[in-house]
Amino acid sequence: MADGNGSKGTSGNGAGEPEQNGGKKSPVTVLVEGAKAVGAQAAEEIKALKQPEKTDVWKSVLRVKHDETPRSRALGVLSNVFLHLHPAKINRDAVAYNYTWGMGGMTFYVYITLVFTGTLLMFYYHPSKVVAFRDILYLEHDVPFGKLLRNMHRWGAHLMVIMVELHMFRVFLTGSYKKPREFNWVVGVILLVLTLLLSFTGYLLPDDQLGFWAVTVGTNMARATPLLGHDGPFGHQLGMTPFNDVRFGLLGGSIVDSNALLRAYIWHCVAIPIIASAFMVVHFWRVRKDGGISGPAPVQLESEIKEPRKL
Ligand code: HEM
Repeated sequence: MADGNGSKGTSGNGAGEPEQNGGKKSPVTVLVEGAKAVGAQAAEEIKALKQPEKTDVWKSVLRVKHDETPRSRALGVLSNVFLHLHPAKINRDAVAYNYTWGMGGMTFYVYITLVFTGTLLMFYYHPSKVVAFRDILYLEHDVPFGKLLRNMHRWGAHLMVIMVELHMFRVFLTGSYKKPREFNWVVGVILLVLTLLLSFTGYLLPDDQLGFWAVTVGTNMARATPLLGHDGPFGHQLGMTPFNDVRFGLLGGSIVDSNALLRAYIWHCVAIPIIASAFMVVHFWRVRKDGGISGPAPVQLESEIKEPRKL
């Protein structure tokens, strides 16, 4: 690049002063000054990185101070969209693993894993009698990590059933179904049924012998439903036949065939997850509204226990 005075690449006058020509700086001077400015800015930014809470980015996201006072801690939780899902204050004993076994939370995390792996499985699976089983073989033998994906979903499903039962057992042992948590216990029972229904509807989807016969046996029980099954009490009197009773409604026919597969798929992948997610939201909200996790009775010192008043 020409520097305006005809000379090429002059960088100074030998005394450290930049060469000036009619007030114009030489390109090298401009370069050096630019580099210094960038260096200074980088130094500023590194300084800011050491104290990120002073940056505008930090302040725009986290609007409260993060010191250790109870007020700032509570504000930090309440003013954050994710953290505010948790209570600002909790009873430390109530959330101890040896009290809750962490089973409710772990059931939820397994459920999230199942939704995630299930969504990935949907990329490879067609709910059709012609290809369903072939899709499973393809997943098992050809899709990269397909076997892992399928097994994560299958073992996750078993785990969720075990965990939800353990969770229910601990709620029972700690008497947490009592007032004011009776309603949440009922919501829990609905969640238990939905968990079992998720397992049952998923059973048919591989379209293998195991699933086929399990669903044949399971839906045959529906024949004996009082009033609504053609083999059940008063079913016959109400005009129930194998072609219009509750079993027919479940299978979309009188035998386990392509309609049953499609119905199981829609219940399993769409309807039950939506219903279960809605009930989980109510369940968690209700834990908060019932005063948080029940918690063991607070420890009382002997000196704190008042003597009964003598009359
Ligand atoms: C998908 C199934 C379920 C999920 C994800 C779930 C999740 C949770 C979570 C995270 C808690 C907070 C405390 C803890 O971890 O123990 C909780 C509490 C509770 N759950 Fe569940 N739960 C489920 C099923 C059930 C079932 C089957 C019942 C009982 C029939 C039940 C009854 C309750 C009750 C009464 C509480 C309050 C307990 C207390 O305050 O100590 N839940 N649940």
